[in-house]
Amino acid sequence: MRHFTSLYDCAGFLSLYLSKPVALVRATMLDCPTHYRLSGNLRLRLNQVPAEGSLSHVDGVVLYTLARLLQAQNIVELGTFRGHSTNYLAEAVWKNGGRVDTVDLVRYWGKVWRGHAITLANRQVVRQHKADAYEYLLRRPQGSVDMIFEDTSHDYYNTRGLIDLTKIVLKPGGLLVIHDVAVDKVPGCRVQEAVDDSGLPFECFTVWPGNQGLAVWRKP
Ligand SMILES: C[S@@+](CC[C@H](N)C(=O)[O-])C[C@H]1O[C@@H](n2cnc3c(N)ncnc32)[C@H](O)[C@@H]1O
Repeated sequence: MRHFTSLYDCAGFLSLYLSKPVALVRATMLDCPTHYRLSGNLRLRLNQVPAEGSLSHVDGVVLYTLARLLQAQNIVELGTFRGHSTNYLAEAVWKNGGRVDTVDLVRYWGKVWRGHAITLANRQVVRQHKADAYEYLLRRPQGSVDMIFEDTSHDYYNTRGLIDLTKIVLKPGGLLVIHDVAVDKVPGCRVQEAVDDSGLPFECFTVWPGNQGLAVWRKP
């Protein structure tokens, strides 16, 4: 597990990982909208998550940057929850051209959590699916997706199963990003173990002040 002390520190790593100039990576990070930190009229500090269970802003910036640098047009998000990570992906896809298919067992957005829900503009590039993540991926054609963001139950067997399906559904050069790989104090959260046992050469890292962790694997 790598621990980056800032987004700029992480930019150097992403530059090498994606073979992109570091100046481009930094510029893309800076281009990421920050207004998702403003939520429900509360100005959240950078190290706070917008709602329990959602990703931190620094992880959102990394997600956005990866999607932009890959020019991802077909993105699948597993685990919509209140749509926080969806916003970062949708913002990237809005600029890349394309769409985000977001999948959850529960249909949350637009209900109680309006402050966190997917913005109206972003909804135009987002399709919401109420489904089990594994069953949804089974229905996607082989090699049809540029990027998958996995943020569902985090239990061992679910994560292993999703990683196996991802290998089939991603296009060559496509990217799998798994959230919460550094979370080890929540009972049942076994993402790190599933990633380690998958046999794939994942890169795992945290970016300060976020501490949830991201695992990335690029399909050859
Ligand atoms: C950690 S939250 C996702 C957070 C979200 N990505 C964000 O940043 O706001 C996990 C979500 O995964 C959903 N989930 C859990 N198991 C699932 C499954 N097997 N298929 C689809 N969604 C699942 C839960 O309903 C929950 O909304």
